Amino acid sequence: MALSFTFISVIWLIFISPLPLISSSSSFSSPPFALKLGSSLSVEKKYDFLFSPNNLYTAGFYHIGENAYCFSIWLTKPLSDGSRTIVWMANRDSPVNGKFSKLSLLKTGNLILRDAYQRLPIWASDTRDSTETAVLRLNNSGNLFLQNRDAKVLWQSFDSPTNTLLPTQPLTKFASLVSSRSLTNHSSGFYKLLFDNDNVVRLVYSDSKLIGVYWPNPELRAWESGRNVYGSKRVAAMDSSGHFISTDDLFFNTSDAGDQPLRKLTLDFDGNFRAYSLDESRGIWQVTWQAISEGCSIHGSCGENSTCSNDPIHGRKCSCLPNHRMINHTDWSYGCEPEFNPTSCGNSEYDFLHLPHFDFWGYDSRYMPNTTLSACKQECINSCSCKGFQFKYDWNKGFSICYPKFLLVNGLSSVNFNGSMYLKVPKNISLSLNNNSVVQGFNLNCSEKPTIQLDRDYDMYHQKESIKFLKLVTYVVGGLEIICIVYFVYGTRSNSSTRGYLQATSGFKRFSYAELKKASKSFSEEIGRGGGGIVYKGVLSDNRVVAIKHLNESRNMQGEAELLAEISTLGKLNHMNLIEILGYCAESKHRLLVYEYMENGSLSQNLQSKNLDWDKRFDIALGTAKGLAYLHEECLEWILHCDVKPHNILLDCNYKPKVADFGLSKLLDRNGTRDMEFTRARGTRGYMAPEWLFVNLPITSKVDVYSYGVVMLEMITGANQSGGSEGRMDSWVREKIVAAGGKNDWVQEVVDSTVIGNYNMSSMRTLIKVALRCCQEDKDARPTMSQVVDMLLHVEDED
Ligand SMILES: *[C@@H]1O[C@H](CO)[C@@H](O)[C@H](O)[C@H]1NC(C)=O
Ligand SMILES: *[C@@H]1O[C@H](CO)[C@@H](O)[C@H](O)[C@H]1NC(C)=O
Ligand SMILES: *[C@@H]1O[C@H](CO)[C@@H](O)[C@H](O)[C@H]1NC(C)=O
Ligand SMILES: *[C@@H]1O[C@H](CO)[C@@H](O)[C@H](O)[C@H]1NC(C)=O
Ligand SMILES: *[C@@H]1O[C@H](CO)[C@@H](O)[C@H](O)[C@H]1NC(C)=O
Ligand SMILES: *[C@@H]1O[C@H](CO)[C@@H](O)[C@H](O)[C@H]1NC(C)=O
Ligand SMILES: *[C@@H]1O[C@H](CO)[C@@H](O)[C@H](O)[C@H]1NC(C)=O
Ligand SMILES: *[C@@H]1O[C@H](CO)[C@@H](O)[C@H](O)[C@H]1NC(C)=O
Ligand SMILES: *[C@@H]1O[C@H](CO)[C@@H](O)[C@H](O)[C@H]1NC(C)=O
Ligand SMILES: *[C@@H]1O[C@H](CO)[C@@H](O)[C@H](O)[C@H]1NC(C)=O
Ligand SMILES: *[C@@H]1O[C@H](CO)[C@@H](O)[C@H](O)[C@H]1NC(C)=O
Ligand SMILES: *[C@@H]1O[C@H](CO)[C@@H](O)[C@H](O)[C@H]1NC(C)=O
Repeated sequence: MALSFTFISVIWLIFISPLPLISSSSSFSSPPFALKLGSSLSVEKKYDFLFSPNNLYTAGFYHIGENAYCFSIWLTKPLSDGSRTIVWMANRDSPVNGKFSKLSLLKTGNLILRDAYQRLPIWASDTRDSTETAVLRLNNSGNLFLQNRDAKVLWQSFDSPTNTLLPTQPLTKFASLVSSRSLTNHSSGFYKLLFDNDNVVRLVYSDSKLIGVYWPNPELRAWESGRNVYGSKRVAAMDSSGHFISTDDLFFNTSDAGDQPLRKLTLDFDGNFRAYSLDESRGIWQVTWQAISEGCSIHGSCGENSTCSNDPIHGRKCSCLPNHRMINHTDWSYGCEPEFNPTSCGNSEYDFLHLPHFDFWGYDSRYMPNTTLSACKQECINSCSCKGFQFKYDWNKGFSICYPKFLLVNGLSSVNFNGSMYLKVPKNISLSLNNNSVVQGFNLNCSEKPTIQLDRDYDMYHQKESIKFLKLVTYVVGGLEIICIVYFVYGTRSNSSTRGYLQATSGFKRFSYAELKKASKSFSEEIGRGGGGIVYKGVLSDNRVVAIKHLNESRNMQGEAELLAEISTLGKLNHMNLIEILGYCAESKHRLLVYEYMENGSLSQNLQSKNLDWDKRFDIALGTAKGLAYLHEECLEWILHCDVKPHNILLDCNYKPKVADFGLSKLLDRNGTRDMEFTRARGTRGYMAPEWLFVNLPITSKVDVYSYGVVMLEMITGANQSGGSEGRMDSWVREKIVAAGGKNDWVQEVVDSTVIGNYNMSSMRTLIKVALRCCQEDKDARPTMSQVVDMLLHVEDED
């Protein structure tokens, strides 16, 4: 008896125990809970898993396809259909082989995933542990974490979610959820859930061609969707009883809140963000909340040239436009292509196919309010890029609006939509298009369980048709900036020695010093100072009145060719809200620039004047924003103004603003400008963005946005910043808003009561809020100048 027991023990020790024995000290009766330094989990060993102490979660190699494994965490218990619920993956986009692949915890404390024969790891935690005591464990909440003797967590899976958040797992500003490609393909898909630059949690669609926000409703401002952009932290999480809280004021309770089932939040492959509860008895996940109730408001699902319609059974359905065919019959995201030859522009006649109740969201080339159908058609015919237009009557405004489109994406067909789409087609084929029944339907099969019925819907926003904007383009700013600069510096400079060529292209004149001296009556009439020089009024020989700027002499004076190279580029910038450069002079030590003259002087001279009523102030805000947006985006923001202030905003005879002194920051200090790293502390006290004060923060176009915000607040409140007062005006305004406690009467408290005329309350409120956003401490939280323009245009639209 004793002998046979020993025998069995020996057999057990030799044959069975090595398989699950990962933690060397563990007794073989308990399953492995920890991976120690120097050991590994192998893809080949059937029992090489880590379990959570409550056995709810398992971590190990998960078989995702033929000879393809991903290191994952999943729910130990399978669902009723036998499938596993994967909650995290280390290497979703690069699965490893089913042989010789390993997850190893190196002696250094680095956790690495190696594919069969590859030398470099597929994935690594990039951690170090000097105490040599780190252990990898999976805890009862499903968190895989690496912890050392000092109880320091070196790495944890909760910090890098895949497409799922577990209860108590926070979504932070460092992380985002990325959907899977499809129900069966776990690699990264097109949808993301993340904290946007303005601190708001959003859903974003992004593929190689398009990028756009679709939740919360992009036609509404964040605060109109109940979100708060002023939170400085970015954290969102759900607790185990189904209460979700986020720092942007997004709160929701799942429909079964209070109960304690197993829960998860997943960004599904169809782009919807859902909360699920596990129904243990039936072995299925139940949806208990979802971000989007109408499947078609999720962008990107149906690809180009196709439309989405909400389908009660399948959630949504894609259809090609008439006379278009599906490009890839298994995947709608490829979209549809026209069956006719899209004729080359200009040499054919066009007709328009009327598609009532069809809409394509975004990608408008223009916004044409109060227009007629024929004017809209003409506009689309005249524009080569126009693929069609959306036309609808706005009952609130009492006129029709036309939106010509250069891309037909995010299509929607819904009887609730009262506008029409007009598709531009070559005339000779339009005859065969006269019946609309050619629209072919196709199901998306987008939901695991076709009917996702909710006890309670979450839909805070209501449909509102307004100006369609938000071209949320995430520029790869750094890279492009540098490319632009390199292009600019070398592209223009290499040719700058050939003056004749430059003058021919830029069309402005080289003046002699004597000529300018005479024009300005020996520089007698000074009209301004700053931006590196003194400005004088002058009258040229052809009787044109001009402003002549005499640049200060600086130690590292540029040669004429270099000066010319710089200002010729500035001279090519042509925008109604930028001051025009008429010429220059470079003789011995003198460097002068000749500008158009502005009758009404600078904004700073006018701020106290009775002539600047609210309408004019609003126009100035908008015009200045347009000018700066043009500067920033002409070559993806290579020209920063760096000194936006009321002195540099000039007013013409109609009080239309023109931004002056742009580009001089580059001009005046060439040495510092390499890599956009300006010598520090440029600009004017009171208008300078905080990042100027910190050596390690990059200087981007957002410094101008900040200064612009200060100028706007100055225009609104009448406070004067040019004294360089220490008290920040934006803080003052924010305090007033907080003090008002949600009521609107803070507006009266904030605006300058000495300014004559009435203002529209909602416009003013928007204006102030835009200005406050521009003045955010965190540069990423500020909008770009073109977003500012869009927001201000939107204000106008509401009047
Ligand atoms: C698991 O780890 C997370 C993150 O450290 C922690 O919040 C959670 O409380 C842990 N759960 C358990 C059951 O220890
Ligand atoms: C999953 O999708 C990606 C991207 O489209 C593709 O490269 C990959 O081959 C797919 N994997 C499987 C198993 O279908
Ligand atoms: C969620 O539930 C909590 C307590 O059960 C309640 O205080 C809170 O108001 C609820 N939130 C929402 C958005 O319903
Ligand atoms: C269609 O899409 C699938 C999945 O992305 C891909 O495997 C297939 O090659 C595509 N077919 C064509 C004709 O492009
Ligand atoms: C969609 O249709 C336009 C013409 O209307 C065409 O230029 C474009 O290439 C089409 N898109 C795709 C993906 O084929
Ligand atoms: C629309 O345009 C017409 C004619 O151009 C004009 O009379 C009318 O006032 C405009 N309506 C609005 C609301 O601007
Ligand atoms: C669309 O028009 C119909 C009738 O003209 C009206 O009853 C309905 O409310 C409108 N729908 C919307 C969303 O404006
Ligand atoms: C339509 O006209 C264009 C140019 O005029 C021609 O190239 C094309 O073949 C015509 N298509 C049909 C269907 O007649
Ligand atoms: C639509 O047009 C096609 C081609 O002209 C024709 O064969 C078909 O019968 C039409 N369908 C309807 C419903 O009119
Ligand atoms: C999609 O659903 C339809 C109808 O339910 C079915 O016929 C079709 O085979 C499904 N397609 C895929 C790719 O699963
Ligand atoms: C300089 O400009 C001339 C103008 O035509 C052009 O032909 C030449 O290629 C340019 N040189 C460089 C180095 O770009
Ligand atoms: C400017 O750069 C030149 C060469 O690049 C250098 O010789 C000079 O000392 C620099 N001047 C200053 C003020 O840094």
